[in-house]
Amino acid sequence: MPDHVRIYEVGPRDGLQNEAVSVSTEAKLRYIELLAAAGLREIEATSFVSPRAISQLADADLLLPRLPQADGVRYPVLVPNVRGMARAEAAGARALAVFTAATDAFTERNIGMTVAASLEAASPVLRRATDLGWWRRGYVSTAFGCPYTGAVAPARAVEVALHLVELGVDEVCFGDTIGVGAPGQVAVLTGTAVAAGIPLDRIAFHFHDTRGTALANVAAGLDAGVRCFDSAAGGTGGCPYAPGAAGNLATEDLVYFLDASGYHHGVDLEGVLAAARFATRTLGKPLTTKVGQAGGWDPATGAPIGRAGVADRC
Ligand code: COA
Ligand code: ZN
Repeated sequence: MPDHVRIYEVGPRDGLQNEAVSVSTEAKLRYIELLAAAGLREIEATSFVSPRAISQLADADLLLPRLPQADGVRYPVLVPNVRGMARAEAAGARALAVFTAATDAFTERNIGMTVAASLEAASPVLRRATDLGWWRRGYVSTAFGCPYTGAVAPARAVEVALHLVELGVDEVCFGDTIGVGAPGQVAVLTGTAVAAGIPLDRIAFHFHDTRGTALANVAAGLDAGVRCFDSAAGGTGGCPYAPGAAGNLATEDLVYFLDASGYHHGVDLEGVLAAARFATRTLGKPLTTKVGQAGGWDPATGAPIGRAGVADRC
């Protein structure tokens, strides 16, 4: 369906991983329950990475078996190596994401290895996940720019994506990790990926709203034919390289934008706002996303919908 868009929720993983406030397993479960209740069908739930690297997600082994198992909900987990794969299997995962980036400088700081080494680490993980019939995604972070080396050529991001496809991912996700991308680059990157043989239905984008370009980038992705976008309810996941900056594109902003643009996605805005308020309250932060503050808008009546205090269901 050309007007159907997949919203891939990353709040519980990407949104929480860099937050200083320690979030309890119960609160994570509640956040995920609210997201699933809002109609989200792909929720990246946690990471099976080294607890020393990301202490916030050290409870992955306990969290995963307790997730609500509604029909058709997929809970991918981030897995960096075979050690993480063994943990994910034991916890009952059925979908995963592996990660690398377009630049060595970023992967070295993030996971202590080069891009080539990270692909080597991902290889046995993806082989095992393929054998088990799991859904598999591969991230290419810093696809639009690197905090250490600057501009990234689209051909480079696509070269890494092609390696991931060869290793067996179902989907590649290009990440604008530091939020520097602009719509023209989205169009070029999509065109480069398709020309290299990656079909549109295996491409996703992960935008950060660090500089306010995330929704414009989504629009460019939609125009180019991409139909999967990442977002985090509450816009969590501030950028560690830009203290105080906005984080992931907010799911509530994305849902409003898609509704207003006539795309179908199956996600309920008021439900997402409830999850967004819960997440930011848990983190002790105000909800500063656009639609989080203004609410949605009902074109039939002209009234705002889901504004704080009006429909707080948590
Ligand atoms: N789960 C649990 N523990 C793990 C692990 C995993 N998946 N992978 C490694 N470890 C442990 C090792 O057992 C070792 O523990 P020890 O010191 O008590 O013996 C320690 O972590 C270091 O292991 P090592 O193999 O040397 O890995 P490393 O220190 O080079 O770290 C990664 C490599 C990838 C495991 C680590 O950098 C990581 O998990 N990074 C995640 C970063 C992240 O999630 N970033 C955001 C995503 S974009
Ligand atoms: Zn992100």
